[in-house]
Amino acid sequence: MCEKKLEGIKVAILTLGCKVNSYESDAMMSLLTAEGAVNTAFEEKADVYIVNTCSVTNIADRKSRQMLNRAKKENPSSVIIAAGCYIQAISEKERDALGIDGFVGNNRKDKIVDVVCRCLEERNPGIKTEEIVDISKEKEYEELENTDKTSHTRAYIKIQDGCNQFCSYCIIPYTRGRIRSRDPENVIAETERLVRMGYKEIVLTGIHLSSYTVCGQTGGEPLLMLMEKMAEIKGLERIRLGSLEPRIITKEFAERLSQNKKVCPHFHLSLQSGSDTVLKRMNRKYDTAEYEMGCAELRRVYDDPAITTDIIVGFPGETDAEFGETCAFAKKVGFSKVHVFKYSRRRGTVADRMPDQVEEEKKNLRSKELISIEEAMGSEYACRFIGKIQNILTEETEIIDGAEYLTGYNERYVRCAVPAYGMKTGEFILARGIEVRDNVLFCEREPG
Ligand code: F3S
Repeated sequence: MCEKKLEGIKVAILTLGCKVNSYESDAMMSLLTAEGAVNTAFEEKADVYIVNTCSVTNIADRKSRQMLNRAKKENPSSVIIAAGCYIQAISEKERDALGIDGFVGNNRKDKIVDVVCRCLEERNPGIKTEEIVDISKEKEYEELENTDKTSHTRAYIKIQDGCNQFCSYCIIPYTRGRIRSRDPENVIAETERLVRMGYKEIVLTGIHLSSYTVCGQTGGEPLLMLMEKMAEIKGLERIRLGSLEPRIITKEFAERLSQNKKVCPHFHLSLQSGSDTVLKRMNRKYDTAEYEMGCAELRRVYDDPAITTDIIVGFPGETDAEFGETCAFAKKVGFSKVHVFKYSRRRGTVADRMPDQVEEEKKNLRSKELISIEEAMGSEYACRFIGKIQNILTEETEIIDGAEYLTGYNERYVRCAVPAYGMKTGEFILARGIEVRDNVLFCEREPG
């Protein structure tokens, strides 16, 4: 057994996939450095390489394999460990074929120190170290926490895992299992610690945030209660919500949310398609009318809130008319930002077996068309803040057209730039919007 743990051992982690996976990579690194490991860049020489994999599409699977193979080839004497969704999704035989040292599945990332120690001790070809469970049976939320953050502006906190929705294109319910929620007390404790470290903005994240459940209660109440508790924390200025399901935005939810002044008026409501027939094939649980109702409730209680979304183009069977409906619906809602994805097949999903898969060329054209709509909407939204005072949380220093700017976001997640004048990042700056270029709102500080 490894007792001294990992003093001086260089460990590098590469993350693929989503924000939840990034959070878990940071949390694994926190556990490792607490045992003396040295956080090392993936491009540098390390004793242990961990790839935190993704399996959301066939391409993500391939990329996960490629990264593991590359790590193994370039570092034959190092320990190579795979973690996360791809590893969770494949069979034992497929894992063996990878020829690496260790595997850490979902809901077992808290065992990373043990796996690394065992791999370092038992480095014999043919001996593999595994921490993988049948994820469909997992009921407990895996408590993980990031303790060594480096930047000091916005931090993500994971509060929920798993998904019970089974959208026809998505493998995540199979890689992450059923919904599990984090104890609110632990979320509050992590928030307090992050605020003590200097963070002013917290983004709540999860696989299906709207399913956040406490003591069997769901439907938005536990989320509202959690955010109300968070709002009491002195020094925390902003709470941002990750992706929400549109049906959670009822009249009561919107009204109570708007009472919490620390919650940013920026809501990411997952749409995926603006065509009801496509939504049905996707096995999404809402239609465009319900989606619109959610947006209307938010717009009733907030002054010009930002509504952002994700849209998939080229879903199997998507006709020109259905795509047209999506474009028209996007314009009707008036999003401030849309993440446009081309549908990408994932073996094992219902959509992968659907007829009428859309050709790549058509997907490209549709994606281009929707992106140009989204750019126009984004720019139009940002222009609404010209002449108005913005509260910007600065994140970076950037040179734009030869001049030094501080860049960051206002509450509505509009990217803003203010002349730097030697100011620091990580602070709030009040400045007036003067023009929009490339969807960035350029601002000037008021004289005096
Ligand atoms: Fe990928 Fe797993 Fe996230 S499949 S997108 S890393 S939940």
